Order: sequence, then structure tokens, then C-alpha cells
Amino acid sequence: MIDARLLVEAAAGASRVDIITDPQRPLTDDQARYLEELLARREKREPISHILGVRGFWKIMLKVTPDVLTPRPDTESVLDVILPLIAEQRRVSVLDLGVGSGALLLAILAERSAAIGLGVDMSADAIAVARENAANLGLSSRAALLRGDWTAGLAAESFDVVVANPPYIPTHEIETLAPEVRDHEPRLALDGGPDGLDAYRTLAPQIIRVLRPGGVFAVEIGLGQGADVKKCFSAAGAIEVAGHNDLTARERIVSGMKKPLG
Ligand SMILES: C[S@@+](CC[C@H](N)C(=O)[O-])C[C@H]1O[C@@H](n2cnc3c(N)ncnc32)[C@H](O)[C@@H]1O
Repeated sequence: MIDARLLVEAAAGASRVDIITDPQRPLTDDQARYLEELLARREKREPISHILGVRGFWKIMLKVTPDVLTPRPDTESVLDVILPLIAEQRRVSVLDLGVGSGALLLAILAERSAAIGLGVDMSADAIAVARENAANLGLSSRAALLRGDWTAGLAAESFDVVVANPPYIPTHEIETLAPEVRDHEPRLALDGGPDGLDAYRTLAPQIIRVLRPGGVFAVEIGLGQGADVKKCFSAAGAIEVAGHNDLTARERIVSGMKKPLG
């Protein structure tokens, strides 16, 4: 139903308000033909975000292409956990590992005007999309975006805040996903290895290495992964490691801190 409304809005070049205030407006022939094209794409299970080319996330609008994961409402829970830990006017540095479209990093920078950030992704195409999103949101001067393998290229840098939404779907489950995800979203954004936990095993020690003493992190996790992911971070030396539930009371975020000095 929401998809149908979004496609009509796109085909008619009309806003939601236009359609509510003038519901009987006829489509022109060109608009009707364009709507048929959009519907045919959706019938082939192309995601609505790819057809429209944009997706709203938190309070920002992001360009989305098949090169990036479509930002999910689930991922907004990372922001619920991390934003209260970042004081409004503090010049904090934020690292987003696996930045994709830029969703997490750009939402944080949009909320915290003194923050600066770095987003890293293995995919050069994703980095190009994130750069475009940073420019569209007027955040380019505070957001650096680099292609890289997690923190491998970050020898000396350290950060106050690290966020990540790594790939966490077990490889054997990918074939069971909805066609919109399985056939249209990048495998690199989904595949978490045999048990879904490969990225956390790699990332936990790397995140603790690049955090400043007293720095904080929050990562999204898949359903049922909380205990294992918390173990990875505790084993890497993190303190105050905790799981957080989303709005449906399911544990979807793990956060923690690097021990402060002294
Ligand atoms: C689940 S997506 C998350 C994208 C975005 N952060 C979001 O929340 O919408 C995971 C991202 O990690 C990236 N990625 C996977 N393996 C990586 C690696 N070894 N180094 C850096 N990025 C990687 C993927 O390309 C993808 O963009």
C-alpha cells in the first residue's frame, strides 16, 4: 500500500499533500505510461528504494543505488544508543565501518554539528554513493570517505566514537531471503560468513584498537547474536559491554567502551 502510493507520487511528480488535497487529479498519458513502467519493475521484486533512488533514514534523505544496502529502520536503533553519548557541542570524531550509503555517519553528523567523521567501506561504488549523499546534505566538509578493509588503512588515527552495521546474515540463509534483498542488494553488505559472526570477530579487536581511551562504540547485530557478539568485544578488552533492544523488544545493538586511562 505504501509502495503503491510512493510509485503514484513518483509517476505523477506529486507530493503526498498534493494527492490528499486533490485526490481526483487525472494522470496524463505520459504519467500513466511511466506508472506502468514503475509497477512492472516492482512486480519483478525490484526494491522500492532502487526504483525511487532514495530512502529516508532518521531525519535525512539518502540516495540509494544497487551498490549500497538500503538503509533500514532497524539501524536507527544504533542512533538511539549512540547519540545520547555524544554531547551536543563536543568536537568528537566518529568512525563508521562499512559506511554503505553513509546512513549512520551522516545521520550522526547531521545531529551533532561539532562532530567530524570518517566512513570506510570495501566497496568503491558504495563510497561514491556516500560521498554524493554527504555533498547533498551539506556535510562534505565534516565527512571523509575512504575505500578500505575495515580499519586496515588507519594505522595511527583514533576516534571518540565507532559505529558499524556489518554484514551479519549467515551465508546459508541468504538464498532464503526475499528476492528484493537476495537478488538486488550487494552480497558484501549481507554475507556474515558461516554463522553470521565473521565481521564481529574481525571488528571487535580493531574497534578497540582505534578507539581513544574512554571512547564508545555501538554495532548493529542480527537476531540471536547478542551473546556471541558481547563475548567478542569483552574478549577484545571492551568494558561496559551491553545489549540493547529495539522498539519490538529484540536485542539488536551491542555497545561498550574502551577503558579510560588511569
Ligand atoms: C550491512 S551494510 C551497512 C551499510 C550502512 N552502514 C547502513 O547501515 O545502511 C555493511 C557494509 O559493510 C561493507 N563491508 C563489508 N565488508 C567490509 C570490509 N571488509 N571492510 C569495509 N567495509 C566492508 C559493505 O560493503 C556494506 O556497505
